[in-house]
Amino acid sequence: MIRFENVVKKFGERTVLNGITFSVDAGEILFILGTSGTGKSVLLKNIVGLLRPTSGRIFIDDEEVTHLSEEEYLSIRKKCGMVFQHPALFDSLTVFENIAFGLRRHYQLDEEEIRRRVARVLGLVNLPDVEERFPAKLSYGMQKRVSLARTVAIDPQILLFDEPTTGLDPVTTNTINNLIRDLSRTLHTTSLVVSHDMHCALAIADKILVLDKGSIVAYGTADEMKRSTQPLVKDFLQEALELAKTH
Ligand SMILES: Nc1ncnc2c1ncn2[C@@H]1O[C@H](COP(=O)(O)OP(=O)(O)OP(=O)(O)O)[C@@H](O)[C@H]1O
Ligand SMILES: [Mg+2]
Repeated sequence: MIRFENVVKKFGERTVLNGITFSVDAGEILFILGTSGTGKSVLLKNIVGLLRPTSGRIFIDDEEVTHLSEEEYLSIRKKCGMVFQHPALFDSLTVFENIAFGLRRHYQLDEEEIRRRVARVLGLVNLPDVEERFPAKLSYGMQKRVSLARTVAIDPQILLFDEPTTGLDPVTTNTINNLIRDLSRTLHTTSLVVSHDMHCALAIADKILVLDKGSIVAYGTADEMKRSTQPLVKDFLQEALELAKTH
């Protein structure tokens, strides 16, 4: 569904992605782990075309997207739902209008169909009865769920999450991670999750990719990660173990 071939991204003289090659099969959940500033968000932005590679090739759904024009990229963006770190909801709109906004922009639907779809996605994130409330009146965890609902409402084939649980308490973190897994399975999406959290990655990822200073230093299944001798992977594993002990 997504394939990177030797993707390099430079900003001026600075190389941020240093020859990245990987692929994600349809329906898979891939976790991308790495320390701060290592290029994870830049990688996601290259998928949705907010940034373009300096060299190398990117394929989405078997189509090469590396050199698509802005206009041609619109159809690719329609396939990709991105969930940002912060919910970024419109404060002046109700939850219903926040979700309906994207639907109206992407599809020609009558009001009844919009109502039906909004109710469905709010059900998927376990948030019934919040349609008429305003985001500021909801807890941060609930806002995150609304933003998830808003993203899945447009039926993306690919879901991209940039640190969906950073800054959340352990219970909400668990809820969000389980939601990511359940949504991916129910909606048959291909999901990429940027995270610092090896503990969740081991629990829900099909594959895990560890990025360090713009290069892939480890890639494989949870079991393969657990056996890894790569120093950064071992650090992440150690952290995950300690986290598990404290909860
Ligand atoms: N548009 C840009 N122009 C110039 N430099 C950029 C741009 N976007 C990102 N960078 C640089 O690229 C590097 C990687 O950034 P990126 O945001 O991908 O890190 P990250 O792995 O997502 O980190 P974090 O975990 O803190 O979110 C950083 O040093 C950043 O300053
Ligand atoms: Mg980032």
